[in-house]
Amino acid sequence: MNIMELTREEEAMLAGEQGTVVERMFRLLVRLGEVYGAKRMVPVGSVQVAGVSYKSLGDPGLEFLEDIASKGTKVMVPTTLNPPGMDLVDWKELGFPEDFAEKQLKVMDAFKRMGIMMTATCTPYLVGNLPHFGEHIAWSESSAVSFANSVLGARTNREGGPSALAAAFCGVTPSYGLHIHENRQPHFLFSVKTELKSNADFGALGYHVGKIVKDKIPYFLGIRHADVDQLKALGAAMAASGAVALYHIEGITPESGIMDTSELEKIEIGDKEMREAYAKLNTGKDPDIVILGCPHASLKEIYSLACKVEGKNLKKPLWICTSRVTKEAATRMGFTEIIEKAGGKVVADTCTVVSPIERMGYKSVGVDSGKAANYLPGFCKQQVVFKSVDELLEGRMS
Ligand code: F3S
Repeated sequence: MNIMELTREEEAMLAGEQGTVVERMFRLLVRLGEVYGAKRMVPVGSVQVAGVSYKSLGDPGLEFLEDIASKGTKVMVPTTLNPPGMDLVDWKELGFPEDFAEKQLKVMDAFKRMGIMMTATCTPYLVGNLPHFGEHIAWSESSAVSFANSVLGARTNREGGPSALAAAFCGVTPSYGLHIHENRQPHFLFSVKTELKSNADFGALGYHVGKIVKDKIPYFLGIRHADVDQLKALGAAMAASGAVALYHIEGITPESGIMDTSELEKIEIGDKEMREAYAKLNTGKDPDIVILGCPHASLKEIYSLACKVEGKNLKKPLWICTSRVTKEAATRMGFTEIIEKAGGKVVADTCTVVSPIERMGYKSVGVDSGKAANYLPGFCKQQVVFKSVDELLEGRMS
């Protein structure tokens, strides 16, 4: 059995000197470290907690969170929260069920009492939780884990909800996996021979690669340009179809230049592979609603949508999901009003996958996200139309 070396402060936490919540949480971290062969703990700069929607937590999860909150212990490091299952302000107007809302608000209250920031977004890096290169963090939202590791060069394993919460209360996480430089080397080399134009193209590529590499690390050649929104789309899709927590792109991601790819066999991805990925992700036709913003939309994406729908009338519902902070900025800029005038909604806090959309009368959803397209059939019993935003809007506006 691997025995971890603990500092004097950590021994004190384990001995219960900082209360029962910290003791319980620290035990969980020690157990995790022992299982994965960690020699020590490493301090974390921030934590991102997933598992926030009442849809996934249910009553047992809510009771667990309320029990911890009732002890009055606060988290030790800046901690942000993933999306809940509804817009926390406009849930009634958007048609979220009342019984669901009541429980979801209790979940949020429990997190708030723990001192967790109610950012309610899967893109914490867009709203102030921005780790620097090499910083150790403990994040559990899979798309954010991928972004933090790959695009920012921060270091996190793909935490579960409880282990992230434990890191938040103790300020440390076991040092194993992606916290260690040697473990960040790629296992697969992909040569991309097709032009990637839209976020959906990056999502389709991510879906295809995630299926091949599973929880290993891919290295991409041939991607000449990718903006931040496309990088988040790529990482989210790979984290969903596989369990990819880190990827490298030659010339784009910060660690790509220091990785050794000399021994790796090259796998080509061309138009045929992309067509196959699109075919697998498309299970429906003529969606009841189009939902964009998975991962949560940036201000730039909301602006781009506003430009596309300005002065038009949408024939069917359209949502773009984002964080509350980003929605405030979009509203200040007039983008929310333009989208709402066209008949769409800027939905804050939640997203298509974690909301109880199947209870709201929808059977088929149009998305431009490889992650959403991957999860919607199973999680939300939806048929999926997976296309670029321009293709999704085609014929739906007058
Ligand atoms: Fe975020 Fe929901 Fe997609 S949590 S990554 S918008 S499934």
